[in-house]
Amino acid sequence: MLDQIPTHRPFDAFQSFVLDCKMFWTRQMLPEVRRAYEEKLSEGAAPATAEEVEALMRDDTTYQFFGWFERHQQRMKYSGRHGLAVHYAQFREHLARELAAPVEERLLQLDPGFEQPEYYTSIDIHQHPGGVWSDEIAGYVYERGAKSTAPMLRKSESLHHRLTAEALSRAGREVQRVADLGCGFGGSTRPFYMDHPGIEVVGVELSAPCLRLAARRASEDQARNVTFRQADAADTGLEEGAYDIVTSTMVLHEMPPRHIEKVLKESHRLLAPGGVSVHLDFLVRDDLFREFIHNGHSRRNNEPFMPPLNRMDIEAAHREAGFDDLEIVPFEEFTGALSPENTAWRFPWTLIVARKAA
Ligand SMILES: C[S@@+](CC[C@H](N)C(=O)[O-])C[C@H]1O[C@@H](n2cnc3c(N)ncnc32)[C@H](O)[C@@H]1O
Repeated sequence: MLDQIPTHRPFDAFQSFVLDCKMFWTRQMLPEVRRAYEEKLSEGAAPATAEEVEALMRDDTTYQFFGWFERHQQRMKYSGRHGLAVHYAQFREHLARELAAPVEERLLQLDPGFEQPEYYTSIDIHQHPGGVWSDEIAGYVYERGAKSTAPMLRKSESLHHRLTAEALSRAGREVQRVADLGCGFGGSTRPFYMDHPGIEVVGVELSAPCLRLAARRASEDQARNVTFRQADAADTGLEEGAYDIVTSTMVLHEMPPRHIEKVLKESHRLLAPGGVSVHLDFLVRDDLFREFIHNGHSRRNNEPFMPPLNRMDIEAAHREAGFDDLEIVPFEEFTGALSPENTAWRFPWTLIVARKAA
């Protein structure tokens, strides 16, 4: 196995090697799989569903290599000799102490009796051992891991800054309060609270280790306008009708459709009249090949709810939640990402925007 090859390289070199592997997979391997698929189409194959594409490609060597590579590079990233979980465990005591240092009271609201939903604890999401919630230092592991989740994303024009700008412009009015559901270690919350000190922001999240890290980072930022709160996005306990924007980034695909329905209802409940819900997630409906690749990614990355989100009637779920003004559009995660010239692998980023009636 690749991850058992003895190595004396330090952690950074190992992780940068894994990132280079991912870049190769992203830019070189995916186009090769597409070429193999197109060859089959030119020979007369005519799949009508993503499952039929899967059946067509299952025995293709290029695809098998692509899938094996995807699964194992992710395993190396977390669990290899210098994997993230392995590496951070060496510094457990130090990191735990850092997290335990007091932060301003308003930054962090943990719920000591909190019970995680069963769907959440039943899988090691992203192949992260123990998921992002069970180990006290999981937030650090996740924070470092997120740097290589989508390697084509450019730091200079961060996804989260783009989403923040989009959400604020979609609000179309002065924004006073924002709720960021499933905020993780605060990556999606930070551009709201840092760049807009006049806005009151709350990040809602299941994972206490992630919330502690988010609060620590906000404390380092000397932020005065954010709270990180442990709660289910489906039942936040926040004030009804008080938010101009309710947003989430990469969260809906991590829960089953029944839970998504509840999150949409909660989004509607939280919004002030005329407020907007802006969920950034993954939908692919018009490209069977990309849907097939996305479904495979879901299996290989331990993210089982990606296909159910893609298949569910998200429009009907919004209507059920009380929204009747809905827009679903592709989201350009970096300049040029949607151009036909970009043949690299990418998530099917999609913006789901709904407005509560005024
Ligand atoms: C892929 S991460 C995205 C984190 C953050 N939004 C970002 O963009 O960096 C998804 C997050 O959703 C959280 N999550 C999953 N189900 C949730 C729920 N029902 N309520 C609140 N958070 C949830 C997970 O713990 C995880 O931190």
